[in-house]
Amino acid sequence: MYDHAALYRRERDLFDSAIQRVLASGRLDWGEEAPAFEAEFAATLGVRRAVGTNSGGAALKVALRALGIGPGDEVITTPNSDIMTTAAIHSVGAKAVWVDVEPDTANMDPGAAAAAIAARTRALLPVDLYGHPADMDRLNALAARHSLPVVADACLSLGACIEGRPVGTLATITCFSFAPTKHLGAFGTAGMAVTDDPALADRMERLVAYGQDRARHYKTFGTGATLHHVEEGMNERLDEMQAAVLRAKLPRLAASIARRRELAAIYGRAFAGSAVTAPPERPGVRHTYRNYVVHLDRRDAVRESLAAAQIATALPYAPPLHLQPVYRDLGHGRGAFPVTERLAEHLLGVPVGPHLTDAQCTFAAETLLAATTQP
Ligand SMILES: Cc1ncc(COP(=O)(O)O)c(C=O)c1O
Repeated sequence: MYDHAALYRRERDLFDSAIQRVLASGRLDWGEEAPAFEAEFAATLGVRRAVGTNSGGAALKVALRALGIGPGDEVITTPNSDIMTTAAIHSVGAKAVWVDVEPDTANMDPGAAAAAIAARTRALLPVDLYGHPADMDRLNALAARHSLPVVADACLSLGACIEGRPVGTLATITCFSFAPTKHLGAFGTAGMAVTDDPALADRMERLVAYGQDRARHYKTFGTGATLHHVEEGMNERLDEMQAAVLRAKLPRLAASIARRRELAAIYGRAFAGSAVTAPPERPGVRHTYRNYVVHLDRRDAVRESLAAAQIATALPYAPPLHLQPVYRDLGHGRGAFPVTERLAEHLLGVPVGPHLTDAQCTFAAETLLAATTQP
């Protein structure tokens, strides 16, 4: 599924020199790397501001806090995601209201979201599952009708677009993860929240850094000036070392996503006309295939055949959150979100990523096809 060591070896000098640069600068804190990466990332996406965080989950938390969401509020999201999507909502004291998903993309169903809007709803939080953007046009229209902000969980969809408009420009605040297994992977944990609203960006900068005004802190850091906290923040900043690594990787992001799309095309050609349902790519959408997830019958038997052929597979975001032990007390039993549950029972993630060769991908596709036709 992943081979971080192989990707490191391919461009070792690039990464080593980025890390050396930080070590030699002596600025391990409040240095130039994090703000430089924020500016470069914002420019790549075409958004006004980007605020670095120490994870995708932290980006979601500060986005919700910056919007003033807290106890007594409800945020609409989906149950087939990383637990951090829901945990971020709970961590600010709000309630996550799960809704079912669309059967093709497995993303938030705008009709279900509309039905869930209530007096306490304060935001929509769609997830771009596997790298295919949610239906942001319909979700934004719905949010606008109710004067709600949209916080997009784009932890899986960096580089994706709808009609040429990049993910990152399609919501009030968009959150990304740079976990090592993501499109743009740090050598540890990191994330980013982006927005076109400077007031929200300023607030997120304070919230990720002890509630200090960013510009003032940079000016006074190391001068012996007293600390100056304008609100209660946390320590959720992007660190200098990760920022330097991400700066080195950012210019290579487009090629890495293009490679994922080439591999997806190999799978797509192999599965055409077969009993294996390939992932959709809606008209006008550019999918970035952070996961390549097919749907098929006899999933568990097929998975065993692939394991016997030494092909790694995964069941990304299954079982869904409402069926996880931690949320059992919330009272959503089996049958609460039928589309999500049906998808979870049939999905299979197969290897995809820039570490793979065409031959490895073809072998995985052929082995999967053979396994589905076995009696
Ligand atoms: C959809 C989704 N949301 C949120 C997160 C949380 O990101 P992080 O692990 O960087 O906190 C992830 C990461 O796995 C994710 O896949």
